[in-house]
Amino acid sequence: MKERLQGRHLITLDSWSKQEIDAVIEVSSELKRLRAMGKTMDLLKNKTLFMVFFEQSTRTRNSLEAAMTQLGGHAHDLTPDKMQLSHGETPKDTAKVLSRMGEAISIRNCFYNIGNRYLNEIAEHADIPLISMQDDVYHPLQALADLMTIEERYGRNLAGLKVVVSWAYATTHAKPLSVPQSQILLFPRYGMDVVVAHPPEFPLDSTIVERAAQRAAESGVTLSFTHDMEEALEGADIVFPKNWGGFAYFHPFNDDQDTADAMRANLQANKGWRLDSRRFALAKRDAVVMHALPADRNNEVTDEVLDSPNSIIYDEAENRLHTSKGLLTLLVGGAG
Ligand code: CP
Repeated sequence: MKERLQGRHLITLDSWSKQEIDAVIEVSSELKRLRAMGKTMDLLKNKTLFMVFFEQSTRTRNSLEAAMTQLGGHAHDLTPDKMQLSHGETPKDTAKVLSRMGEAISIRNCFYNIGNRYLNEIAEHADIPLISMQDDVYHPLQALADLMTIEERYGRNLAGLKVVVSWAYATTHAKPLSVPQSQILLFPRYGMDVVVAHPPEFPLDSTIVERAAQRAAESGVTLSFTHDMEEALEGADIVFPKNWGGFAYFHPFNDDQDTADAMRANLQANKGWRLDSRRFALAKRDAVVMHALPADRNNEVTDEVLDSPNSIIYDEAENRLHTSKGLLTLLVGGAG
């Protein structure tokens, strides 16, 4: 398996087999166990990861940088203004040059209709693995950590679990579609039934929805959609309350004031989409709440729910570290 994953790009887990994903989770779990015992391993000694962030990040930046440090390597924390990207250097030249200097490139670019295309262009020219740190369509690193966290809670057999991915109101910033889209593509492959709840104004991308429906059919599970959060929550095992959409704000060159105004109005019209204790009580008694974070507390989900014993948000965030370590080990580990 190691040979098969070495050198691979990761833009979406949908192009990886379950066997490959399982291998990453297994190595991640082993590295987590070793860290708990205080054991260190220089699996990435003398290796360099280039991290290029077009947007802010707490978990992705720090989990990858800590992963490289803990495994004996180093990560460069880069932004476009620190590089010649800001002067228009092409994806090809960027990819080729970084490929001569290090072992992996990771990029976060969530600009709507731009990010995924940019990552694919870098991947086309890179001679080393390109790891998506999130784009406008996918967030594979988050989905990996989510899956590991769910397996830790429920075991390897996830058949029959009901997962609710629900849109929620937020004021902090308009969030990309990539987290819920990666979840609905991945969870059905692991036997989970998924219900997506969202206001009509905030749909997911129809191409992704079609692909996720195909994944659900292949796995013999259900993927359903509703515009009623409470209906979705009935009997749920796992609940993800999360804002998405408003992607007009994400377009760096968006000068369409009417679109931006319309999205703001849509957001205000759906202020009531908040996961609170009354609603969470509709789920099973032992249901868990998860969130990729950052959470817009008391807008997307109340403190009472996020800080309750049913919340596993910090386990989920911690697993960003362990899955980053597992992934990097399999993609670029080996003799330095
Ligand atoms: N969940 C996540 O990707 O967090 P950051 O935006 O802080 O990296």
